[in-house]
Amino acid sequence: PVSLAILTSGGDAPGMNPVVRAVVRTALHVGARPFAIREGWRGAIDNLIEPLVWSDVSSILDKGGTVIGSARSTEFRERDGMRKVAANLVRAGIDRLVVIGGDGSLTGADTLRERWSGLLEELVEAGEIEADLAARHPELHIAGVVGSIDNDMVGTDMTVGTNSALCRIIDAIDALTSTAASHQRVFVVEVMGRRCGYLALMGAMAGGADDVIIPELPPEDGWEDAMCEKIRAGRAAGRRDSIIVVAEGCMDRHGEKITAQRIQAAIKERTGESPRITALGHVQRGGTPSAYDRWMSTLLGYTAALEVIRAEPGEESCIIGIRNNRLQRLPLVETVANTKKVIDYLEEGDYEAAVRSRGTSFSR
Ligand code: F6P
Repeated sequence: PVSLAILTSGGDAPGMNPVVRAVVRTALHVGARPFAIREGWRGAIDNLIEPLVWSDVSSILDKGGTVIGSARSTEFRERDGMRKVAANLVRAGIDRLVVIGGDGSLTGADTLRERWSGLLEELVEAGEIEADLAARHPELHIAGVVGSIDNDMVGTDMTVGTNSALCRIIDAIDALTSTAASHQRVFVVEVMGRRCGYLALMGAMAGGADDVIIPELPPEDGWEDAMCEKIRAGRAAGRRDSIIVVAEGCMDRHGEKITAQRIQAAIKERTGESPRITALGHVQRGGTPSAYDRWMSTLLGYTAALEVIRAEPGEESCIIGIRNNRLQRLPLVETVANTKKVIDYLEEGDYEAAVRSRGTSFSR
């Protein structure tokens, strides 16, 4: 039987466990041998690789985070770290991986695939593995699943954990709205997402916020006045609660960071109100996955497992994602490169290009 391993890497996301469960059970169902690599790439270096049975993934469908652990490993990015990983995998008879992580973890996985035969040659020459063992594993096959609440991967509509994070954000905004209304207060709500404004924008829409600032659309100069005007107009119309959502990673047109504190100060100065700040932080990432994140992740895990189990020689690494509400096989290298392009455009200040590259579901 073929052996495959699963690892979760980078920031955890609700829905990672359903992927792990689906991969393990799909593998067992088709007669393959599933292994877990604990603690992400760090565990691959330290040989934290162990076989899993059906019951090892019982009762994890509803658990947040990742039960097999995750880590950010700098050592894995170096050739020496990858050499250790290759040695540990091949000794365990593993040449198929399902990697759940963000773009960094997935790029690392593909680099390992590229270097695989060279690394095995080195290991054979150094006498660290037998030549016939290396010959039995000429290639490494990779299927990636994007696990990130940020929803920042180009080419896939929804990444694992985003929907749960959004549900958390909405719960928080709803809760803040009632206390804001009681005191006629402004709340500035800071949400995660790195350089991607998806959570902020969708959270603001679903939460009925007064205003939102996202990295992809830095506000024009004078935005503070415009924002306060909206707040004043709302008050004049009898609106008791005001919610401003700001994504982390926002800049103004001059490259200065727009933080919740800066917004708070601007509102205070212009309106005399005393806004409160709520930075939602890791509450967005933790906790139980939503129904969507459970079933979508199950489908992604099932598909990714079959993808690596049935991989043909010479196949490129892929990402299993969702596009137009359908499961989709995306080329890993190209997908990650397109995602990097968005960040480059943002850094160059070409916001239109960034938005265009990120893709939109609406066109006329
Ligand atoms: O990428 C997921 C994410 O939660 C981002 O939204 C956030 O900026 C970052 O990770 C936080 O990272 P850490 O958990 O290392 O503080």
